[in-house]
Amino acid sequence: MLSKRMQDALNGQILIEAQSSQAYLAMGSWAEIQPGFDGVTQFFFRHSDEERMHMLKLIHFINERGGFASVPALEQPNLSFNSIRHAFKELLHHEIKVSESINGLVDIALEERDYATHNFLQWYVAEQIEEERLARVLNDKLEMIGDDKGGLYLFDRDILQVGMADKSTPQ
Ligand code: FEO
Repeated sequence: MLSKRMQDALNGQILIEAQSSQAYLAMGSWAEIQPGFDGVTQFFFRHSDEERMHMLKLIHFINERGGFASVPALEQPNLSFNSIRHAFKELLHHEIKVSESINGLVDIALEERDYATHNFLQWYVAEQIEEERLARVLNDKLEMIGDDKGGLYLFDRDILQVGMADKSTPQ
């Protein structure tokens, strides 16, 4: 059974995952109207779907542990960006915040001596290592590319492979 404190904290994470999904959905919509960024567009939409999956996992866990997962209201995310680089910077900052939030949940699980939730959260800890790493790799590439059109073309062409390769690389 979840403590009230643990349940509230996990419900807070539902909000963060939902906000992430919404933020990346908006990035996808923005990228879709930029000429020539089909790969980047797909990347953001896929990432948005992943965040929704992270949210659903939390919803099921809370309910299965005798709590009640509450579906939150969402604010409108940032809708437009100065550049692809700007969007990816926001993505990285967002993921860093998500990691901090997950770490906070792990602290609470330990304080509450809730080892089931602690165990459940380890999946998120591992996922955040990957997500932050991928976001940093993509930001580093964009930093190198700058405004070079050929570089941006290759970045867009290769982004889905980079994402998948990084996700399947063991630590
Ligand atoms: Fe579910 Fe990217 O944090």
